[in-house]
Amino acid sequence: MQLGPEIKAIITGGASGLGEAVARTLTAGGAKVCLFDLNEERGTKLAAELGGCFVKVDVSDPASVEAGFANARAQQGQERILVNCAGIGVAAKTVDKEGKPHNAAFFDKVIRINLIGTFLCASNAAAGIVTTDPLNKDGERGVIINTASVAAFDGQIGQIAYAASKGGIVGMTLPMARDLSRSGVRVVSIAPGIFKTPMLAGLPQDVQDSLGAQVPFPSRLGEPSEFAALARHIVENAMLNGETIRLDGSIRMAPK
Ligand SMILES: NC(=O)c1ccc[n+]([C@@H]2O[C@H](COP(=O)([O-])OP(=O)(O)OC[C@H]3O[C@@H](n4cnc5c(N)ncnc54)[C@H](O)[C@@H]3O)[C@@H](O)[C@H]2O)c1
Repeated sequence: MQLGPEIKAIITGGASGLGEAVARTLTAGGAKVCLFDLNEERGTKLAAELGGCFVKVDVSDPASVEAGFANARAQQGQERILVNCAGIGVAAKTVDKEGKPHNAAFFDKVIRINLIGTFLCASNAAAGIVTTDPLNKDGERGVIINTASVAAFDGQIGQIAYAASKGGIVGMTLPMARDLSRSGVRVVSIAPGIFKTPMLAGLPQDVQDSLGAQVPFPSRLGEPSEFAALARHIVENAMLNGETIRLDGSIRMAPK
């Protein structure tokens, strides 16, 4: 699909980090963006800067997601692109230091936001996109991009809930692409390695440097703009479908 002013995109987690970078890149490419996030202050400010819209949405809540899509479509029309970036990173082991099992509510929360949130936004976007006219001779109607993580494949100690949530996104990618193939909607996931976003910025500089040094090449943290460049390429390259792409400088995470 070619970007242009008639192409509308919804970006979850669009107020920060990878989602913010995607919003900037798609806007620079000519698309209109709508940001879904819990962070109203940052989201409203960025949307105003980009000439897009912001809707406060909790991706883990079905009613909030449904209302968010209705609101975004009322403001800017039917989206053709959804980029799922909303997510949380947490740390807890299967059995903690005191010998207690992993907190069940905690596990549930991570799955609810990262996995179910991605699923809810994807299915709501798809339901709208399938009703649109094809954009080109391939019959393409839209594209859904999800954000997994390398933790889906090499989850570290303490990443049990996070890795499960991201593994679910990887598992969902092919069947969702197959489900939507007759309607010309593609589904592709990106599994980032370690990127320089507010999620990581809280770590001390020496820890960030050490994480960067573990990347075989290039030996540094990824830039959010590099993630966004891949998201844009996925939008523009119709042959990419049903796949999860690692974007990680070839890092394979160690147990810790
Ligand atoms: N930064 C990395 O190194 C890295 C690596 C692998 C995967 N990821 C994934 O990339 C995605 C983006 O991460 P980031 O680094 O940009 O983090 P970030 O914290 O900068 O941005 C995440 C955004 O999601 C929003 N959000 C959280 N819960 C939400 C909810 N329930 N509903 C709506 N919005 C919600 C937050 O408010 C925030 O604006 C996440 O899914 C994360 O797991 C990041």
